[in-house]
Amino acid sequence: MPIIEVKHASKWIESGTEKIEILNDVNFCVDQGETVAILGASGSGKSTLLGILAGLDTPSAGEIEMDGQQVTLLDEDARAALRAQSVGFVFQNFFLVPGLSALENVMLPLQVLSQENIQDRALEYLTKVGLAHRIHHLPSQLSGVEQQRVALARAFVTQPKILFADEPTGNLDQHTGSQIIDLIFELNELMGTTLILVTHDLDLAQLCDRRLFLNNGTIAPALLKKELHSNA
Ligand SMILES: Nc1ncnc2c1ncn2[C@@H]1O[C@H](COP(=O)(O)OP(=O)(O)O)[C@@H](O)[C@H]1O
Ligand SMILES: [Mg+2]
Repeated sequence: MPIIEVKHASKWIESGTEKIEILNDVNFCVDQGETVAILGASGSGKSTLLGILAGLDTPSAGEIEMDGQQVTLLDEDARAALRAQSVGFVFQNFFLVPGLSALENVMLPLQVLSQENIQDRALEYLTKVGLAHRIHHLPSQLSGVEQQRVALARAFVTQPKILFADEPTGNLDQHTGSQIIDLIFELNELMGTTLILVTHDLDLAQLCDRRLFLNNGTIAPALLKKELHSNA
């Protein structure tokens, strides 16, 4: 059974008399444990699609089913609960809480779920990402790659079924970016997470089981690797 089903999802924004179409009749399924890359030019709708899949945003039309639940029928509170329970996120800009230490940032999603042994679990995940020696640092006292390591610990600490990553290496150089990628795939395999990754990087996309190419808000038919390279 697919863990995510997208049926005829469209997104538009009305601005005065103008209707801006962002996504247009998007359809696909993702199986449990699959790793999927979403590729496409800047402005093609990748982040909008990811936000809708993750329940952070709603489609203007169509349905999203996640883990057997019709996300599009849930109210904001129910969607927030589903996100907290089943979903992890990693963003290009890390999005750590500036006033909290690395440890406190990783404890946060566990506090939301009212779980126990929160501090021990957060420490365990900071250790997994190689940051056991930086737990009391604030985000501003950490380098970009260290901040993204904290963000990965925060995303995986709840053991989510699905991890969404939106250009997770977009603010890193090639060397530190590849450390983050290795870590994402390592944690993903260890935990059997379903991974949906937005990227510009074709080599990175090749590491995933499957690639979806977004063009002007529409999923393009499957392309061969050769064609992908000439489209990038
Ligand atoms: N809230 C919004 N209001 C108006 N336009 C938007 C809004 N959000 C996204 N867009 C537009 O939708 C298109 C897709 O955006 P986005 O999903 O961020 O693309 P990508 O992540 O592929 O770069 C862009 O042209 C963007 O300007
Ligand atoms: Mg984007």
